[in-house]
Amino acid sequence: MLIRDYDPQRDQDAARRIWREIGWLRPGQEEITDLFIGATQAHVADVDGQAECLASTAPGTARYQDATLPLCAVASVATSRVVRRQGFATRVTARAIAERAVAGDALAGLGMFEQGFYNRLGMGTGSYERQIGFDPARLTVEGRPRIPERFSADDWRELHASRLRRELRHGAVSLAPAQLTRAEALEDGPKGFGLGFRDGPDGAISHHVWLMAENMGRGPYHVRWMAYQSGEQFLDLMRVIKSLGDQVLRVTMQEPAHLMLQDLVEQPFKQSRMTRHTNWETGVRGSAWWQCRILDMERCLAATSVRGEALAFNVTLTDPIAEYLPDDAPWRGVAGDYIVSLDETSSARRGHDPALPTLDATVNAFSRLWLGVRPASGLAITDNLHGPGGLIEALDRVLHLPEPHVDWPL
Ligand SMILES: CC(C)(COP(=O)(O)OP(=O)(O)OC[C@H]1O[C@@H](n2cnc3c(N)ncnc32)[C@H](O)[C@@H]1OP(=O)(O)O)[C@@H](O)C(=O)NCCC(=O)NCCS
Repeated sequence: MLIRDYDPQRDQDAARRIWREIGWLRPGQEEITDLFIGATQAHVADVDGQAECLASTAPGTARYQDATLPLCAVASVATSRVVRRQGFATRVTARAIAERAVAGDALAGLGMFEQGFYNRLGMGTGSYERQIGFDPARLTVEGRPRIPERFSADDWRELHASRLRRELRHGAVSLAPAQLTRAEALEDGPKGFGLGFRDGPDGAISHHVWLMAENMGRGPYHVRWMAYQSGEQFLDLMRVIKSLGDQVLRVTMQEPAHLMLQDLVEQPFKQSRMTRHTNWETGVRGSAWWQCRILDMERCLAATSVRGEALAFNVTLTDPIAEYLPDDAPWRGVAGDYIVSLDETSSARRGHDPALPTLDATVNAFSRLWLGVRPASGLAITDNLHGPGGLIEALDRVLHLPEPHVDWPL
């Protein structure tokens, strides 16, 4: 088996075959598959001259507090029917991540099919994302909607630019290739459509929502993504969604990081009881479906700022990704000893100071701590992160972060 870069001339048919075999390629969607893979940096496991496993990454950014860090998203991982459980997906993905670490990305993230698989590559599970289902007619947003403009997949460039301009909160991810927005929009076929407004300079799309209608008449409609730059723009979009409520029985959407969507729903408990076990179920469902990991300790800690009490400690990190990379790989993870100081301008540097307390952690758990998924005291119970009681208490006090939310369908 040879791991090499994806070559569209040589591997396109094999890539389509892999995706067909795993059920990702619906008949007639070959070009969307090509578009998606072409928009990413793909690598394959070549077995007897045939690509049988493909993993790809897409460049992007992550918001961390007020900083923007370069991130790579693991965009797809797939192994054909004939070479499962040979370790190919793990090794090809490890290589794809390592390549991005060498290129300077500080973080990697992904949407997981299951917890555990990517933990072997150092990934730690992110926050619960809340999906709310509601009857749009029961939204309490007031006022008549403004008349939105229709958008289709043909508007992909502008839609993508609008997504990149959206308001970003802690943890928000943006992927750079506009072709990914195009592929996502095309994937929904005639069931996908956008609605929004051009309040930006020179008529640029300022805010919009992309929806997928399971049933065009009655719904449910699913909000695939939303992009807005202010609370007023968000309410504009919610009024548009509400205006569909004479006909559509249910809409689902991800809760924005800083809002409680239940605030906007009339009689949420009654609605949820009335719709239980129907196709129109309302209510909130949580799922921690994304994972992330630090690729560059120095860069990530330099982006961290805490006010008030300062804290310095040693960290001894282990990183399981090394097991899946060649011994001579230029990047083999971030394992090792660091001295971390948390203050307004924090830092991590290689070394060990015997005068400081020491935290022992996997990169998986430390990434979760750094991002604010859970406090140290919680991770010390359920994850691989251990230290003296005084240090754990101090970390709980000092590293107080908003809950991270990716706000992008990874
Ligand atoms: C997921 C997928 C890519 C794995 O491909 P693969 O080449 O068979 O995977 P590998 O051989 O590299 O890894 C298999 C190992 O992962 C382990 N593993 C799988 N799921 C796991 C989990 N949830 N927790 C821990 N380990 C897990 C297996 O036990 C196996 O370990 P072993 O080698 O010690 O027996 C493949 O099943 C696939 O293409 N699925 C459909 C598409 C998909 O879901 N892709 C992922 C998108 S996020």
